[in-house]
Amino acid sequence: MKEIISKLQKMRDAAHNGGGKNRIDAQHDKGKLTARERLVVLLDDESFEEWDVFVEHRSNDFGMSDNKVPGDGVVTGHGTISGRKVFIFSQDFTVLGGSLSETNAKKICKVMDHAMRLGAPIIGLNDSGGARIQEGIESLAGYAEIFQRNVLASGVVPQISVVMGPCAGGAVYSPAITDFIFMVLGTSYMYVTGPEVVKSVTHEATDHEQLGGAVTHSTISGVADLVYENEIETLASVRRLFDYLPDSNREKPRRLECNDPQDRKDESLDSLIPNNPNKPYNMKDLVNTIVDDGEFFEIQPNYAGNILIGFARMGGATIGIVGNQPMVLAGCLDIQSSVKAARFVRFCDAFQIPIVTLVDVPGFLPGTAQEHGGIIKHGAKLLYAYAECTVPKITVITRKAYGGAYDVMSSKHLRGDINFAWPSAEIAVMGPKGAVEIIFRDDRDSEELISQHTDMYRDKFANPIYAAQKGFIDDIIAPHDTRARVCRSLELLVGKQLNNPKKKHGNIPL
Ligand code: HXC
Repeated sequence: MKEIISKLQKMRDAAHNGGGKNRIDAQHDKGKLTARERLVVLLDDESFEEWDVFVEHRSNDFGMSDNKVPGDGVVTGHGTISGRKVFIFSQDFTVLGGSLSETNAKKICKVMDHAMRLGAPIIGLNDSGGARIQEGIESLAGYAEIFQRNVLASGVVPQISVVMGPCAGGAVYSPAITDFIFMVLGTSYMYVTGPEVVKSVTHEATDHEQLGGAVTHSTISGVADLVYENEIETLASVRRLFDYLPDSNREKPRRLECNDPQDRKDESLDSLIPNNPNKPYNMKDLVNTIVDDGEFFEIQPNYAGNILIGFARMGGATIGIVGNQPMVLAGCLDIQSSVKAARFVRFCDAFQIPIVTLVDVPGFLPGTAQEHGGIIKHGAKLLYAYAECTVPKITVITRKAYGGAYDVMSSKHLRGDINFAWPSAEIAVMGPKGAVEIIFRDDRDSEELISQHTDMYRDKFANPIYAAQKGFIDDIIAPHDTRARVCRSLELLVGKQLNNPKKKHGNIPL
């Protein structure tokens, strides 16, 4: 017995030692933690239980039979975050570059299968040179097994990817399918083909950072949701996000005690909207004012800034917020913002998270770039997402709600449950100026007539009354009452039941 215990301990020690001191030092020198150190930061103290520490690869080619490390380059198991179960895998770059072997993939699939069965989230810490080159097709098969599980888990348990080193080739598609991608500035990158291949195929000169670094993916491609300066901040933020999410689609997110009075009024909101309708204001001021303790966990803050998305709590319960941002492109919907918000709405819908939509939208962004880029199809994604969504939907129109964008932004007609407007709301087919230029084209040479017509149009439509008379708005509320009214509405809608027609799945315009 003693002998076997000592042998097992040696194997555990070898697993903990990964690729050895030099490689661990090299990892630290790059500003990176090891796979195990990351788990210590991410999980509750002492909560991690490792599985499959004795697993080794089965490859014999290229001298691999003499190159075995127990655990085979990925640490897997389960632990807790804020006391809640989570399944986890953490790739160990010090062992063969964290590359994915047949056995390594099997370990990852095992935790994913358990997560699905038990209804617990999965977090993957990615730091890998990709498919284990010494193995070949077994490794590719392993990737596909993971992708398949990512897809089946989508909408069933939350999946979070943290990219903390290389993530290249087809390997990027596992994080891509998951719900949220975190990256670390300067040390992580993701691309389908690296700079050398790019150079030889397209003759473009680029590097890891420019091609697929954290800045690129959080500002240009929109692949990454959140980016931080270092690994500690990144993992701390993963913990914060985790707290907003449910364990699975079978449960609602945990409701916290709320010490922020739900009927708290804030008079500053009464002067948030500028007198000049063309002047911007910061929609984040409204978000921060109405949510519990002013805490808004924004997703993709540096991408498609014309729409805000993120989580917050109201009355202690998790909500998803979607808001047009007048500070960027006047809050217009374009391709990027439509896709950004559509995916978020679908996440909230899949995981029983009510959506609060704050509307100030002058319409869809015009132009050939948008039309040729497919705004018709991409804008339809947001429309589709809101229309199929069955969780509680509360809408507050603060100012403009024009044209098709009015319909899209969780309008009554897309089964918005409770739709409020501020007295400053303007709900119409288009803004007064544009409308008058079309209806009164014959008077275009008379400044006086055009001005009269514009005033008339503004009086008639640039307010919430007409929409409220039709019942498209449930009430016109004072801005300072917004928190109280939204909190009360959320409470009212707790038991909401709404089912879509039975079908295999819809055909969202992808
Ligand atoms: C086996 C690998 C490996 C891999 C790295 N290593 N990638 N071993 N298979 N894919 C090993 C290295 O041999 C080295 O071993 C150690 O990991 C660290 O690698 P370095 O090159 O020293 O590190 P660094 O300079 O930081 O460069 C990291 C890297 C580079 C950019 C990731 O290692 C690299 O280009 N690797 C190959 C990437 C690749 O082509 N992968 C296959 C992609 S195809 P020693 O013993 O020296 O420490 C793919 C298809 C997936 O992934 C398809 C899914 C559908």
